[in-house]
Amino acid sequence: MAIHNSLNFGKEITLTIDGKECKSTFGKTIIDVARENDIYIPTMCYLTKVKPIGACRMCVVNVEGVEGAILSCQEKATDGAVITTDNKELYTERQNIMKLYNVNHPLECGVCDKSGECDLQNKTMEFGLEEQPFTTRDQHRPVENWGHVSYDPALCIMCEKCVRVSTEITGDEALKLHFGGYSSTIVNTKIEKNYASLGEAAAVCPVGALVDTNFKYSTNAWELEKIPSACPHCGGGCQMTYEVKNDTIYRMTNNFEFTSLCGAGRYGFDYANKNVSKDAKAFEKAVSAVKNAESILFAPQITNEEALILQKVKELTGAKLICAEAKAYQKFMRAYSSVTGKALYSGSLKAISESTAIIVLGTKIYDDAPTVKYHINMASKWHRARVAYMHPLEDLEMKNIVTQFIKYEPQSEEGVAALLVEMLLRDMEVPENVKAFLDDLDIGNLSAESNVGEEELELLRKSMLKKHGFSLIVGADLYAHPRAEQIAKILALVEKYTDFNVVCVPPAGNAMGVSLICDLDDEVTGKTVGYNAEADFTLSALGGGDLDMPALNQQEGTLTTNDKRVVPMNVAQPYGGYILNDIANALGLDAEYTIAYTKTLPSEKGFEDVEFDSLPDYFDTVGNEYRGYLLNERETSVDKTLEEVAELDGFDGAVVYTCNPKEQFSAFTNLCEPLKEEAFLVGSSQFSQATKLSDGESVSFIIDGVTFKRVFKIDTSMKGTIALNPTYDMGLSTPLVSSYRFSRIEIQKVGS
Ligand code: SF4
Ligand code: SF4
Ligand code: FES
Repeated sequence: MAIHNSLNFGKEITLTIDGKECKSTFGKTIIDVARENDIYIPTMCYLTKVKPIGACRMCVVNVEGVEGAILSCQEKATDGAVITTDNKELYTERQNIMKLYNVNHPLECGVCDKSGECDLQNKTMEFGLEEQPFTTRDQHRPVENWGHVSYDPALCIMCEKCVRVSTEITGDEALKLHFGGYSSTIVNTKIEKNYASLGEAAAVCPVGALVDTNFKYSTNAWELEKIPSACPHCGGGCQMTYEVKNDTIYRMTNNFEFTSLCGAGRYGFDYANKNVSKDAKAFEKAVSAVKNAESILFAPQITNEEALILQKVKELTGAKLICAEAKAYQKFMRAYSSVTGKALYSGSLKAISESTAIIVLGTKIYDDAPTVKYHINMASKWHRARVAYMHPLEDLEMKNIVTQFIKYEPQSEEGVAALLVEMLLRDMEVPENVKAFLDDLDIGNLSAESNVGEEELELLRKSMLKKHGFSLIVGADLYAHPRAEQIAKILALVEKYTDFNVVCVPPAGNAMGVSLICDLDDEVTGKTVGYNAEADFTLSALGGGDLDMPALNQQEGTLTTNDKRVVPMNVAQPYGGYILNDIANALGLDAEYTIAYTKTLPSEKGFEDVEFDSLPDYFDTVGNEYRGYLLNERETSVDKTLEEVAELDGFDGAVVYTCNPKEQFSAFTNLCEPLKEEAFLVGSSQFSQATKLSDGESVSFIIDGVTFKRVFKIDTSMKGTIALNPTYDMGLSTPLVSSYRFSRIEIQKVGS
């Protein structure tokens, strides 16, 4: 057996596999090196994105000088090793394993949902098994309906992939193994939660044991056309494939070896604007409305190309462009860049998953950006990362990975950022102006006003002392904060003077792309046109507007992801109406298709001069991502001024937090049947007492001019006087709600 010396990790090695000379680096397993070199080793339990499971033994190989077969998924490749992946003995061993897998497995594949894409079916054929030589007394094990997914224990081969995904990737920790010989099963320990994230566990199931309930028995896998695309919901732009037949999307799949989808990506696909035809009169009115609009309001659920069209319309007509969330993010990032000297944040999702200490500030991250939460979870599971979660509300769904909740008062984020930065930079060499800023901080006062105890920060500091690989994740609570730009400058000091991996998670949709492409304005004036936003004249992909528009799954174009990647989306559903490009052409612009704009996305903002049809969209055999391209880094001018931290204006009494629940991001996710849920104002018993509201009481309140009518629900697991108010059900008004997420509002009772 090889001795693993960590000092050798990354060292170049050369070995021979099946007579082929293979170069790689030390630290990789034999199967990794084989795959890098296009050499096939059969597996049943291997899943690249989790740690090796070691349950199937199909991956056995011989290593010269080592007695017996070894597991290539577990054993590190060593310099000079001579490896054989296939010979008569190995074939027989694998064949015997397949015989055991087939004990009592009903090979009546014609009635199984997985037929045509089943690993067991494929390998049964690959290893020439024409009969099932062994049986054992079987028992009745009924199919279990777990909500979004269904589990058939009779088909389960106990490969453990689903359990690992539930634990290591999504972190819902719902699935567990239950051992019991031939009656071993997988158990859903949180069945009442009906986690949509279990769709990811079903995706990796190699057989028909764990399947999407809605997809089950709906069609044969081989009848579906696969249309590669990117998820438009949270800003993650996760890789996904629409699977379509007769213009109906049957399911979403993903390259599950390397990527993951949250429940919204997996089940939030049926939001197309259907049965639309060309309404010439409405189109004429739309052209005239856009021509005469003083302000164009839009939701961030648009492609980069459409954002560029709007920018060009602005240049043509002089209209203001209003996308409030993207504007807030743009301002924040400009202030941030003025300290770092770089236009984008430096961090990446991969670096989050490799961190051993992570600080989350100003975001309900699981709800805001599930894929970021998944990477935090990976760090927690793989590196026992210390995770500090700084927010006015504890997120109980994060409890299993957060090691320290640090609660602060709403609106005290500037003080919290200052306290955090002072703690992180205290012993670092920093320029005079930064030192002066830190020295001037009144720590005691900031701590008292924000409610963040000095001892809590000290605990955090100590817990990070022996760690390496740090991440700071900041989010949407900060962008629309009245002091957002100052907060950005304070936090940018972390990126500038430490080796933290910093990610400023953009708001949902394509807010990142919009913030880079459009010259956005602040105030709405005059006649308005809205694109998926309520206005005097509304262009709507949600229906109910003055002119229909295509939804994002009916368009070609690109999105900019929170990992700073420009990724392609393709058409999954037909659309028969007019599109934004038609309006722009009628106004005098000239592009045959919207994707003609892909190659003209602004290079000075980091985009590349590439034709849409030339954008790559794949992962190689070892998981390197070739989807679109990464935004180019750009330098920006530096401004050294740091303002004094402003007097903190804390909120007293009952406060409402604008926040969508898991898997809801906009009016588009809300259109999707599997995700539909009623929206409530949800608060603790304490909130109920403070506001004198009873459970079930109907209330009304106004935020950003939008009137909410809600039923109040008490959630006994919540504490404090902050209630959660979602916006995803507000249709065309949703994008209008974009101010600082905590509001002190006047709640009117409207009778129960
Ligand atoms: S349900 Fe599927 S993924 Fe889970 S252990 Fe069984 S076969 Fe493997
Ligand atoms: S909603 Fe976000 S995390 Fe979920 S699949 Fe889509 S991009 Fe990925
Ligand atoms: S792939 Fe190695 S034991 Fe299953």
